[in-house]
Amino acid sequence: MSLQHCRLIDLPKVHDPRGNLTFVEGGIHVPFGIERVYYLYDVPGGSQRGGHAHRGLEQLIVAMSGSFDVLLDDGRERRRYHLARSYYGLYVPTMIWRELDNFSSGAVCMVLASNKYDEADYYRDYAEYRAAVLQP
Ligand code: TYD
Repeated sequence: MSLQHCRLIDLPKVHDPRGNLTFVEGGIHVPFGIERVYYLYDVPGGSQRGGHAHRGLEQLIVAMSGSFDVLLDDGRERRRYHLARSYYGLYVPTMIWRELDNFSSGAVCMVLASNKYDEADYYRDYAEYRAAVLQP
């Protein structure tokens, strides 16, 4: 996987004077079945989250409220995304290193994930991750 496989996905938006509505269907709006949802909130200013890659997990990261940055790294190059609205998300395929920072006050980061939590799926050491992706 490379940064070329990472992309922003526009989600459906149902405009309504009573308030807008966005929905996500697994296998339709995201290229995986949704097996788990988790969210980061009450993030203190200056905090960094992430700092890992996943062997087999795919994710869609959405700023449900406020904003934050997601730095993606495929072992060769890095790209920084600023997420600030809840009607699009950042698709992160397998084997991409990610770091999240620059959280605004009140930011909520929701993640849709293709599998249940499994610590064995994580690379938490950047050198180990990089060696794995760069091996011939
Ligand atoms: P981690 O994935 O490292 O958080 P982040 O990438 O957002 O910084 O997870 C932090 C802790 O939470 C870790 O001890 C594992 C636990 N955790 C679960 O138990 N279930 C989950 O679905 C997730 C995402 C984390």
